[in-house]
Order: sequence, then structure tokens, then C-alpha cells
Amino acid sequence: MFIKNIKAIRVIDSRGIPTIRTFVWTKNAVGCATVPSGTSAGKKEALELRDGGKKYFGMDVSKAIKNVNNIIKKNLVKDFVVDQEAVDKKLIALDGTKNKAKLGANAILSVSLAVLRAAASELELKDYEYIANLNKTKPKMPTPHLNIINGGVHAGNSLSFQEFQIVPKFKSFEETMKASVEIYLTLKKILEKKYGLSSTNVGYEGGFCPNLSSSSEALSLIQSAVDKCGYTKQVKLALDVAANEIYKDRKYLVDQKSYSSGELIDYYKKVIKEYKLESIEDPFSEDDYKSWSNLLKSVSKTKIIGDDLLATNPKYIKDAIKKKYCNSLLLKVNQIGTITEAFEAYNLAKSASWDVQVSHRSGDTEDYFVSDLAYGLSSDSLKFGAPARGERTSKYNRLLEIEALNK
Ligand code: PGA
Ligand code: ZN
Repeated sequence: MFIKNIKAIRVIDSRGIPTIRTFVWTKNAVGCATVPSGTSAGKKEALELRDGGKKYFGMDVSKAIKNVNNIIKKNLVKDFVVDQEAVDKKLIALDGTKNKAKLGANAILSVSLAVLRAAASELELKDYEYIANLNKTKPKMPTPHLNIINGGVHAGNSLSFQEFQIVPKFKSFEETMKASVEIYLTLKKILEKKYGLSSTNVGYEGGFCPNLSSSSEALSLIQSAVDKCGYTKQVKLALDVAANEIYKDRKYLVDQKSYSSGELIDYYKKVIKEYKLESIEDPFSEDDYKSWSNLLKSVSKTKIIGDDLLATNPKYIKDAIKKKYCNSLLLKVNQIGTITEAFEAYNLAKSASWDVQVSHRSGDTEDYFVSDLAYGLSSDSLKFGAPARGERTSKYNRLLEIEALNK
């Protein structure tokens, strides 16, 4: 069960931008993983190494690929593939920086995940079974949040908030996806009738991008699609504001109007009540800490999810638990760079009785590692975008497959 060879190659993500895919071989198995990439990435995230220069407009990953094929390969070949923690510690030490800036978090993560998959295959386990063994969790199907209207930097429309989600709660994942698809296609019809066919063009995560004038209009259209399908009781709504992108000079620009933090808290309180929101992610910018704790004090029953605020980093999560900034963690493996540190982030959040939501990125690929991760960790929820576009459906389809084959 030793690592025999490692090779990284360049592939293309869902936005047409290069990313890194790595293969890890043992005597009897091969593990392969492709890393995703964010568009609205926060400044606390581990560093995604890109080349700069002219090729691929500066976005090539040839340096990260070289780091895997030279430094990392030389140091990991002959290591034990099933000791994930030792592999990850070695990767962290080889890099030696605080934010994985030397080798690149993209290089490091591709190896960490490919090692995990090679080990699972050697042990003849499904990836989710091996993840559950590693983190001592019991696999369970999470509740999906499906992003069916895209705004912010994920879309070419005027909506300020990035994600307008539905949160369907049904007994099986199959029923959950059936309802989601029905709502998605009903919303498409509503939009087409009201605003014309071009309003049903989709954004980075497969949600529609209508040019609406307000976020409450988007919520109201989604609610009418839910109601029309007869799922009013089983489906809630949720938001990812991605507030870093609308924060300037201590003000938030929402639907062409400027809000102070206090005014934005009042706005959130109103929409939470009106639309019975399940959760709000990144309601404030990543360093507007006081506003986070003020909001949590007044809406403690709603899930307030930290994405850019926490960057899946145990250091920031500890601080947020202590200072009561939020009550849920968004878990994105590429924000931190190794699976061992992602487990640590998960366990810390759980120790504070937080909810954990496993997430894809806006720049993603057909790789469905996050499906096995969410299921294996038994995370409370997950978000993989709309039920459309291959890089999103690969992840939902993986969960449909897991459920159907485990019946
Ligand atoms: P990103 O968006 O992948 O572009 O960062 C997803 C999110 O903000 O949750
Ligand atoms: Zn987010």
C-alpha cells in the first residue's frame, strides 16, 4: 500500500479556466482528483497558484503542476498511501507557508484528494466509506441547497446577492431531486412568460439570471414556483449574499441602494420573516465582525453561514465560535488545501453544535468528490448549484446513485 507514482496534468474547469488534475498510483490502485476554483474567493483562503503572464491570460497552472510532478512526487513516493494524516502533514511541511503559497493550495489539494481515493480503492472501500472511517462519522444524506437564481459575480445581471436557493426536505434524495427539478423548470416557465426567453439564460452555477430589479423579487418568483408545484410545506428558501462583493467604504450596495450594517440587519430580519429563510450565507463582509455578531444576536434561529468569514480554516472557526459570529460553517476543501484540515474544520464546527454545509465552487468540474465528502461526513446540508449543467449534476447524480445502490 505504498505510493508508486504521482502525475499532475492540466484540465479545464466549467468557466473555461485551467485547473489541476492529479493521479496517484499504488501497486493495485489509482486515485484521481480535480480541484475546483472560486470566483468570489475571500482573502483568507489558501493561495491558488496561477502562473501570471500571457498564457491563458495569466490563469495557467503550470507552476502548480510542476510542483506536484517534481517536489511533491519526490517526497511522497514510497510513503504509505493509507496514512492520510501523515501525507497531509508532509504536504503542509513541504510547503512551509501559512497559506500554502509556495506549492499552491491547488497543487497540494489535488494530491491530498488523489491519495485519499487511491487509499479507498486499495482498501476496496467507496470514497464515502473511507471518509467516514477516517473521520469516525456515520454516512447520512444531507439536505441540499439548490441555487436556482444566480446573481452577483456569478451572473451578468443586476442582482446584488449571489445565490437564491431552494431547500427541499423530503424523505428520500430521489424525491428531493424530483421536487427540485420540478421547481427549477416551473421557475423557468414563469420567467419566460414574464420577462422573455433571455431571462432563462444561466449563470456559473446553473441558476437562471433574470435582470430583476430587486432581491425580494427573486425570492418572490422562486416562492411562486414552489407554491405552484405544491411544495409550500416541504421547501424553504435561502440566500448566499457573498457580501464581500457589495461592500465598499463601510456600506453595502444592495439593488442600487446603499445600506449601513444596521440597515442591512433590519433588511435581513424582514426577508427572513417574509420568506421563512432557512439560512443566510455571508451576510456581511469577511472582516465586518461586529455586524456578524449583531445579526446572530437578533436572528439566532436562522442558520447564519460563514464562508469567506471562515475560509474552512480552523483558526478562524475557533475565533468565530468564541466570539459568536455565526452558527454554521460552509466547508470548501480548496479554501484550506488538505482533507485532514477540512476534517478538523468540520469537527470544530460540530463541537460547537454548528451546522456544516459542504460546498462546490463556482468554477468546478465533473469531479464529484464533494458528494462523497458530504455523505461520508453526514454533513447537515450541501450546495452544488442548480439541478442543471454537467459539473453540478455530476454531484447530485452521484448522490442519487449512492442512495439507489444502498437501498
Ligand atoms: P465561489 O462562490 O465558488 O465563486 O467562491 C461560492 C460561494 O460564495 O459560496
Ligand atoms: Zn458563499
